[in-house]
Amino acid sequence: MDTATTGDFDIPADIAATLVDPVAYADDRIHDSYRWLRANNPLGIARPEKFDPFWVVTKHAHIQAISRQNELFHNADRPTTLTTQALEERVRKITGGPNLVRSLVQMDAPDHPKYRALTQGWFMPANLGKFEARVREIARATVQRMLARGGACDFVEDVALGYPLHVIMEILGVPEADEPRMLKLTQELFGPQDPDTARVRDALSAEQVSAMLQAIIADFSAYFRKITEDRRQNPRDDLATVIANAKIGGEYMPEHDQTSYYMIVATAGHDTTSSSTAGAIWALARDPAEFAKVKANPELIPGLVDESIRWMTPVKHFMRSATADTELGGRKIAKGDWLMLCYASGNRDEEVFEDPDRFRSDRKPNRHVAFGYGAHLCLGQYLAKLEMRILFEELLPRLKSLSLDGEVKMTQAYFVNGPKKLPIRFEVN
Ligand code: HEM
Repeated sequence: MDTATTGDFDIPADIAATLVDPVAYADDRIHDSYRWLRANNPLGIARPEKFDPFWVVTKHAHIQAISRQNELFHNADRPTTLTTQALEERVRKITGGPNLVRSLVQMDAPDHPKYRALTQGWFMPANLGKFEARVREIARATVQRMLARGGACDFVEDVALGYPLHVIMEILGVPEADEPRMLKLTQELFGPQDPDTARVRDALSAEQVSAMLQAIIADFSAYFRKITEDRRQNPRDDLATVIANAKIGGEYMPEHDQTSYYMIVATAGHDTTSSSTAGAIWALARDPAEFAKVKANPELIPGLVDESIRWMTPVKHFMRSATADTELGGRKIAKGDWLMLCYASGNRDEEVFEDPDRFRSDRKPNRHVAFGYGAHLCLGQYLAKLEMRILFEELLPRLKSLSLDGEVKMTQAYFVNGPKKLPIRFEVN
């Protein structure tokens, strides 16, 4: 059986269309599609126009099963995120492969574990503890600025966007003055479908999109080339020094791999963490009882962090491809087939989470897959959780009340999305 030829497990065209419609991720229709798929066709084939067909994996257990079999389901053989046929063709012309960059996400064994080991220790709690005091300083200053807004603000604009960016730049060793440039590049790279953040708007040709992506990568490359030179001459106690001086088989990494490494570390950690941070405040602002519960029980803050990451699931999907014919959930998956791991669906799977649409800071256990699973499990998960915990520890005791103050707007993107406008009102203790 092959996704290219069979129709037995096809999912309805209107549902398939939502999976590739950035707007469906902004207005919540995607969750209706996921719910339908989990109930009716949890491992079905989507054939939306302009895309190669792909399996849509919506059950928590299937997402885990695929993610844990890294030999059978590769990252690097096909695009790691949903990509149109036209764009993939352009990318292949530029790089000779299906992906523009070669970061950890676009690697498989044997390279993946070697490259991951270079920074894994850096991202472990034992090392991150060294940065906790500095992160708390950044969190305090952020909270101070928010409270100074006088009772109302846009939480995304005023808090959630800048804070994680500032933390990762500090850890990486990028000067504060360059942060706006990094933010812009990330938004262009990760949310290119959103009209508010795209460098160029809708209806782009494949040529224009690939030119735009190449320009973004060239920007990153030029920027980090200078950082590398500097850190080889003047090593410091930052992550850029680790990446600049890291050796694979006795040699520095090739420049393309090195740029990709900086890029993944510089970009993976802020839109994702800011969406999850905003998700928590959104949930508390619309539910006074939940807000009161967390206020009265600060020991619930780590649970609040995990629940907001589950509830928001900012990374909506990653793709894998089968390296051999195999069987899963009663379906025959053929060698070469492309699969979409729908993390946001797995995280609302009724078989795993009771009342899954409800936000509950005291949800236990909370075995969400928002950070993925298996060998590629998010390298930055402890950093993300540490940042969020510290921000909430600093912010929540200062707030007497919290409520929504207008319409919440989500970014339009089928890869990484979350709130882009979150107007709130608050009273200070
Ligand atoms: C990988 C989510 C924060 C760095 C991933 C993956 C997901 C994810 C879903 C793919 C996992 C897989 O394929 O199994 C998130 C979410 C975050 C977050 C939801 C925030 C709430 C961060 C932070 C960093 C980071 C703060 C730090 C710089 C990475 C890296 C990878 C990764 C380097 C690639 C790991 C690999 O392929 O081996 N993340 N992430 N992430 N994340 Fe995160």
